[in-house]
Amino acid sequence: MVLFNSPPGWQLPASRVTPEGMFWRRRQFMKSLIGAGAGFAAASAGACQRNATLDVELESTLGQPLTGASLNSAFADVGRAPTPQQYASSYNNFYEFGGSKNIWSSAQALPTDPWRLEVTGLVKKPATYDLDDLTQRFTLEERIYRFRCVEAWAMVVPWIGFPMKALMAAVEPTPAAKFVRFSSYYDPRVCPGPGLSLRNLPWPYTEGLTVAEMANDLAFFAVGVYGRTLPKQHGAPIRMVVPWKYGFKGAKSIVKIDFVAEQPATYWNTLAPNEYKFEANVEPEVPHPRWSQAKERLVGKSTSLFTWEEQPTVIYNGYGEYVAGLYG
Ligand code: MTE
Repeated sequence: MVLFNSPPGWQLPASRVTPEGMFWRRRQFMKSLIGAGAGFAAASAGACQRNATLDVELESTLGQPLTGASLNSAFADVGRAPTPQQYASSYNNFYEFGGSKNIWSSAQALPTDPWRLEVTGLVKKPATYDLDDLTQRFTLEERIYRFRCVEAWAMVVPWIGFPMKALMAAVEPTPAAKFVRFSSYYDPRVCPGPGLSLRNLPWPYTEGLTVAEMANDLAFFAVGVYGRTLPKQHGAPIRMVVPWKYGFKGAKSIVKIDFVAEQPATYWNTLAPNEYKFEANVEPEVPHPRWSQAKERLVGKSTSLFTWEEQPTVIYNGYGEYVAGLYG
């Protein structure tokens, strides 16, 4: 991302490559085998982890088994296998906890219990939920979604959560509400950020959607992943998932949702409006100012980012049938 003014990883000069290579070699010391996928329901995509190796330290960061969320058959097959959790849960962007992809350990400082999510602004029924309210009030389901980062890497992730439109129905936005602002947790005593020289960033991390985007069938709040509650590195206890948009639109660890009349300021768009648009739909024909978006690399096909399989990027990340109508 713009913080480091660098192109996507595989375009990095050789001098910058070593840390990433070392990272993956370290991760190769796999200490445990998740043999039977204990705790995962057979029908669950969490079961895709059955034969995957998982580092024991990483495993200790994973959440509690989430049972009873059935796989939504409309979102069960994205034409690619789910990314092994070993990769998806150890290769993250969470700038509150560091500027590298290797933040899964430092993110464990995030305090998630108790958690309160305030929904406010232009709504008839403002509400504050704790996590039990959210998981008991809204029916949880599992959805396998493609995930495409603006940095041109991609994954396939089995999320568990509920559609955003269910929360909208509960709070009843007024006709004056045109946009929605999502704010992430931020406490400077807990979040070191990406480095000493980069303290003056527009925290908290915020993102935004139009009300129509939030009401779309695809827009999802995740409270779990790979059959368990979200680990902190993925944005516990609740994060946004909007799979037709670049990954930075999916704010993690949300504490506040505001329904507003005007387009809200958002984190990356405030930092670099020419590089990170508010809309940020996945569009292969629209290059990032510093790299092409025509192709993407699938995380986890090997341990080296230089050998990650390259695939063409698809308009709206393959979700055109759901969202093309929003952008006539
Ligand atoms: N949310 C917060 N609060 N802070 C962040 O740094 N990074 C974004 C998004 N949400 C980010 C965030 C970016 S750039 C990406 S690509 C995704 O989270 C990464 O999600 P993942 O680590 O769960 O794969």
